[in-house]
Amino acid sequence: MSQFQQNVELIRTESMTRDVVRLTFHAPDIAATAHPGQFIMVQTTTTGNDPLLRRPFSIHQVNNNGALQILFKVLGRGTELLAKRQEGEFVSLLGPLGKGFTLDNGDASCLIGGGMGIAPMLFLAHSLRRQGKTPTVILGARTGDELVPLLADFQQLGVVVQAVTNDGSFGSHGFVTDIFKDIHFPAHSINPIVYTCGPRPMMAAIFLQCQHKNLSCQVSMETTMACGIGACLGCAIPLKSGGYAHVCADGPVFSAKDLLWNL
Ligand SMILES: Cc1cc2nc3c(=O)[nH]c(=O)nc-3n(C[C@H](O)[C@H](O)[C@H](O)COP(=O)(O)OP(=O)(O)OC[C@H]3O[C@@H](n4cnc5c(N)ncnc54)[C@H](O)[C@@H]3O)c2cc1C
Ligand code: FES
Repeated sequence: MSQFQQNVELIRTESMTRDVVRLTFHAPDIAATAHPGQFIMVQTTTTGNDPLLRRPFSIHQVNNNGALQILFKVLGRGTELLAKRQEGEFVSLLGPLGKGFTLDNGDASCLIGGGMGIAPMLFLAHSLRRQGKTPTVILGARTGDELVPLLADFQQLGVVVQAVTNDGSFGSHGFVTDIFKDIHFPAHSINPIVYTCGPRPMMAAIFLQCQHKNLSCQVSMETTMACGIGACLGCAIPLKSGGYAHVCADGPVFSAKDLLWNL
């Protein structure tokens, strides 16, 4: 699988909310080879070495003109610095990395993104639409202002988004699990599949519901990552079979049934 480490131009910055930022890079090599669910490691510094390590971000969206987007929340020093980068500057990206979502099986699907776990869902929805599929999409956030700026891109793809906020300020009041429990695939669906990304407790709850509904579930996991390429062994997560997997190299997308959830 091709990977590139390149200085690419930042061509657009968007402040989606007070602390959520979307950056668009001209990164044709990475964009052309990326699959939904894969990620990139981004150098956040312009000078010096603090932070020393690159930061991982899901690929939010790519297009045929070589544009590649990430969507992120400002949490600490790395994301703070990244949020201050200006259009026209060059940023070092490494990617595409990891194993993404499996798209081939399933004629019906449900995409569930919570918080910044919404980021990879746009690329996934786009790819499913290109295959002629119309996924059910459930997006959740704490408040409406975190969700509303993201809806137009999903709607442009022709998918209906079921929005839910924890404070009830937009869409339904509650959690993505409240919406998902009432989702039922048509009886004739072949291998329906659920794709999810978000906080671990959210994904665990979705997986539990999938088990009750007898549905396949793919989850995109997050851990701290130092290298992103399987070299530092710092991103290990436990497997149901015993042993460990590395989120950067074996994931970040896993079949939920293969992981140890302690449900
Ligand atoms: C495969 C992968 C894909 C990711 N995709 C995205 C994405 O699309 N959008 C996005 O916003 N973030 C994403 N993340 C998380 C992102 O990498 C971290 O938020 C980022 O590295 C924080 O860097 P920082 O230097 O700003 O914060 P740090 O200085 O490293 O940490 C600041 C504070 O935030 C906490 N923190 C760090 N990482 C996380 C985390 N993942 N979740 C919760 N708290 C954390 C730390 O414990 C610390 O308290 C992804 C992570 C992985 C592994
Ligand atoms: S982040 Fe280094 S091995 Fe996964």
